[in-house]
Amino acid sequence: MRFQGHPRPAPPREPSRARHRALGVTILGADQAAHLRSLQLRLDAAPDHKVRSRPEGETLSFAPTHLFYLTSLHCNERCTKCSHWKVREHPGMVAADLVVQAVRSVASAREFCIVGGEPIVYRDRVLTILRGLAGVAVRTTIVTNGVLCTPRFIDEVRSLDVHFVFSIDTLNRERWQWVRGTDSMDVVLGHLDHVRKTLRPEQVSIQSVLAEETREDVAGVGRWCAERGIYHSVQRYVRGGFDGSWTPIADEAAVSVASNDGPCMAADRNLSIMPDGSVFTCFQQTLIPECAMPIGRLGERPVPEMLASAYADAVLRRMRRCELPCKVLRCNQ
Ligand SMILES: C[S@@+](CC[C@H](N)C(=O)[O-])C[C@H]1O[C@@H](n2cnc3c(N)ncnc32)[C@H](O)[C@@H]1O
Ligand code: SF4
Ligand code: SF4
Repeated sequence: MRFQGHPRPAPPREPSRARHRALGVTILGADQAAHLRSLQLRLDAAPDHKVRSRPEGETLSFAPTHLFYLTSLHCNERCTKCSHWKVREHPGMVAADLVVQAVRSVASAREFCIVGGEPIVYRDRVLTILRGLAGVAVRTTIVTNGVLCTPRFIDEVRSLDVHFVFSIDTLNRERWQWVRGTDSMDVVLGHLDHVRKTLRPEQVSIQSVLAEETREDVAGVGRWCAERGIYHSVQRYVRGGFDGSWTPIADEAAVSVASNDGPCMAADRNLSIMPDGSVFTCFQQTLIPECAMPIGRLGERPVPEMLASAYADAVLRRMRRCELPCKVLRCNQ
């Protein structure tokens, strides 16, 4: 089978809240580089990984609509909620055009999210991907700390219909320094201002992480957004994968964040591309028992073949019953 783009209908119109849905991801563990290396070894070594395609004519049941690409854990901030910036070793990165081909090859794709680490650290790569997806009926979102979301970058992407999620947890200068480990507040708010002046209102939203330590900050960000008509999403702080030093909120029912009931929304919906091109059904797939291997790797076989594999089927069956803490993340809701 060859990689090739599929014609696709325009994405369905969703209510504005859903269209603004913000995203966040956690990843597999603190030492991502070592983890990816071990995955690579397991993938290479595992005979069972060879795709066992369905019999010809059988319907492809896994049709993911939400695709994610994790550029790398490399980051230019020093957050206390997240340790991605501490990872010093970064594995080789998949070619940007393979990421473009992958998104184009999934006919069911409606949303594509680029995340990190800080994705805009890889400005040229991100631009290559955005340009490669121009005209494809997939909404692309970039989750960013905002530091490199410069007017120059925005001017380059303004015609590409990209959506930006700025991560902002506080608007208090001292608290910002504690949250981010840097004094980037003025830079980020300046960039946000330019984005709002340049792009359509629905092309930007703000996401905050709610922990015991940030209750008042997040409420303040919410009020600030409401006054300006900016969509504000709240993601619960989780420890796993981020390795931060904050405290998960104790009384989840008391705050208005998405419900944890029912199967994880990632199941049957998400597809995650890791920095080295390994493809998983969700970023945390390796944490699910017997699901440690990726369903494939870009450049080795087309994504539709990966989706049709018996292994992908088996992973999906487990995801539907999965109750790991990452279920509450917005990228899984
Ligand atoms: C890991 S960051 C990567 C993108 C970019 N560097 C940023 O900060 O927006 C993706 C999202 O996860 C959120 N996040 C970071 N640490 C978190 C944690 N421990 N629990 C829940 N969400 C977290 C961030 O605030 C951001 O909205
Ligand atoms: S939350 Fe984003 S900006 Fe902060 S350290 Fe993690 S990846 Fe970097
Ligand atoms: S709860 Fe399970 S299925 Fe959902 S994102 Fe986490 S590991 Fe994946």
